[in-house]
Amino acid sequence: MMEQDIQEILFSQEALARRVKELAGEIRRDYAGKAPLVVGVLRGCFVFMADLVRELDFPLTLDFMAASSYHGTESSGKVNIQLDLHDDIAGRDVLLVEDILDTGNTLSKLVAELKSRNPASLKLCVLLDKPERRVRPLEADYVGFTIPDAFVVGYGLDYEQQYRNLPYVGILKPSVYQR
Ligand code: XMP
Ligand code: MG
Repeated sequence: MMEQDIQEILFSQEALARRVKELAGEIRRDYAGKAPLVVGVLRGCFVFMADLVRELDFPLTLDFMAASSYHGTESSGKVNIQLDLHDDIAGRDVLLVEDILDTGNTLSKLVAELKSRNPASLKLCVLLDKPERRVRPLEADYVGFTIPDAFVVGYGLDYEQQYRNLPYVGILKPSVYQR
């Protein structure tokens, strides 16, 4: 069972739902009268983004990107865009949604790439922020929770593609990735 691999539940399903509603409230205020493009970073964004956009009551469109940098629990620093947007974003208000801001390698690359396409605005929304691990100077505009340096899974986040379907966010037992 997946639960046996979890050391500690950090955010329950209920806590996540409450915080996502609060974040959505901030985003609703900031984007009132706009029709942003919400861009999710696959695959980790998928649960968070699905919950978030259903709390937004203004017109929006969705798209997705994918980038690779992780091998197991280590960020490699070398980021490749594996899936790109369908449409031009020049003049659009873009909100980039990601599961976690960790070293910042992935998001700083994606942010630089998107900025070069001249959007009207670009903001970053992450469920989790691990500031201790940052190697690039990057902060998110909307942060669900700030967490210590531990490897977490669930609510979209994976370890080797497993655990994404856990309804909560928990710390993975180190024995799982040390074996
Ligand atoms: P960087 O280091 O580039 O990493 O900011 C961002 C991506 O790495 C993944 N990541 C994690 N995935 N638990 C996970 O399941 C974690 O604790 C974790 N830390 C980083 C994640 O996919 C994110 O997009
Ligand atoms: Mg991942």
